[in-house]
Amino acid sequence: MLYWLSVATALITAQSFKASAFPAYASLGGLSQRELDVIVPSLPAVYPPPPPPPPSYTGTKLVHDPDHPWQPQKPGDLRGPCPGLNTLASHGYLPRDGVATPEQLIIAAQEGLNMNNRLARFATYSTFLLDGNIVTNLVSIGGKSNRTGVDPPFPAIVGGMSNHGTFEGDTSMTRADAYFGDNSNFDQERFNQFRNFSYHYGDGYYNLTVAAELRYHLIQQSIATNPEFSMMGFRHLTAYGEATFPATMFVDGRTTGSEEGQLDMDTAESFFKHSRFPVMFHRSNKPRGIEPALDLLAVHPMLPGRNVAGVNSFVADLSMGSTIEYCNMYTQLVNETIRGLYPNPTGVLKRNLKINLRYFYQSLEYDYCIEVFPYGMH
Ligand code: HEM
Ligand SMILES: *[C@@H]1O[C@H](CO)[C@@H](O)[C@H](O)[C@H]1NC(C)=O
Ligand SMILES: *[C@@H]1O[C@H](CO)[C@@H](O)[C@H](O)[C@H]1NC(C)=O
Ligand SMILES: *[C@@H]1O[C@H](CO)[C@@H](O)[C@H](O)[C@H]1NC(C)=O
Ligand SMILES: *[C@@H]1O[C@H](CO)[C@@H](O)[C@H](O)[C@H]1NC(C)=O
Repeated sequence: MLYWLSVATALITAQSFKASAFPAYASLGGLSQRELDVIVPSLPAVYPPPPPPPPSYTGTKLVHDPDHPWQPQKPGDLRGPCPGLNTLASHGYLPRDGVATPEQLIIAAQEGLNMNNRLARFATYSTFLLDGNIVTNLVSIGGKSNRTGVDPPFPAIVGGMSNHGTFEGDTSMTRADAYFGDNSNFDQERFNQFRNFSYHYGDGYYNLTVAAELRYHLIQQSIATNPEFSMMGFRHLTAYGEATFPATMFVDGRTTGSEEGQLDMDTAESFFKHSRFPVMFHRSNKPRGIEPALDLLAVHPMLPGRNVAGVNSFVADLSMGSTIEYCNMYTQLVNETIRGLYPNPTGVLKRNLKINLRYFYQSLEYDYCIEVFPYGMH
């Protein structure tokens, strides 16, 4: 099926999207700032440290080592929609309670799974700006948590990474769409599809060929079943990008030749379902980025867009950019989404927003996008 509609239609529908993009989240039950200060631990404002550099050694190594044993979640520990970060937290590469700083996320993604420095910075600062507490420099890898400190004023959400519609989005491989209830925990039915596709297209292994088929299939499935399906701008990129990560970063780095990039189902289940490295797991033998996403897109091209009137009403919508319109995606994310959350920041909040926006922009390094300054240059 083809869903390529004209850009003109897309632009008209974009207006209604923007109006409904920010649902009215109540900020902790309408408590006053004074009341919040009493019940939520008050954490100090932090000057955002610079992004950590790449590690000096970037080859494969044992990462399931004695210093990083797996431990089951304790009550109150937060886990969310990212199997990579969940695993890093359950092995102590991140704080095991699931609340982390941007610097900790970058170091853990590099150290534990060999994500490259640029992608680690891109994923981290985008997520942090959308879901984190910009003042205390903390973000939950799962649901909203009072452990990130007092929230900046509405309409800021500070919802943690499980918050739907900021970073987390529809058509994930192992998490249901938010419309169906639980967008954060492992979903066995979706994993069964992941497994089925791996048998069908990968001889029992998940690889980039499987990824291209599964990615396309899941989008068609969401279009046909989720009346609120949305895959706009930034989500277009993350949906295609994340589908490549299991083939590039969950495969043991000691594999070579024809076994490279082939993920067996026991290993997949260990990461996705149990947030756990297999025994003796070695990270990838080279730093990994998001570039293979373009290969998936080339197999089954799909534009960004959303269902506009119930199931099977997908309309392409380029207003928020796309995987291949990287700079427009960046501009819209900053100028619409982030500015929508923080329309009028002041003081430390404004200072920290500007610093983190800079770090985010710098992660685009080779794309030569024009920097956007929603809060002024100085
Ligand atoms: C660097 C910091 C990282 C951040 C901030 C981050 C954040 C996220 C978030 C918010 C999602 C949910 C998106 C969604 O599906 O709706 C996600 C998904 C995902 N992440 Fe991460 N991530 C990071 C690093 C990693 C690493 C190192 C891996 C290694 C493999 C990884 C693998 C994945 C995969 C496979 C998914 C898709 C899950 C699915 O579709 O079921 N992430 N990530
Ligand atoms: C933070 O939230 C947890 C879980 O909802 C609650 O048990 C705890 O008392 C809260 N902490 C503070 C200081 O309010
Ligand atoms: C498994 O995948 C194949 C190929 O896409 C599909 O024809 C079949 O219906 C799937 N079976 C299940 C149980 O999902
Ligand atoms: C994935 O596995 C299938 C089946 O073995 C194979 O034909 C295909 O070339 C593999 N794709 C990649 C990218 O490794
Ligand atoms: C950002 O949004 C403002 C207000 O809507 C607009 O005036 C400005 O042109 C936008 N900037 C960019 C770079 O799109």
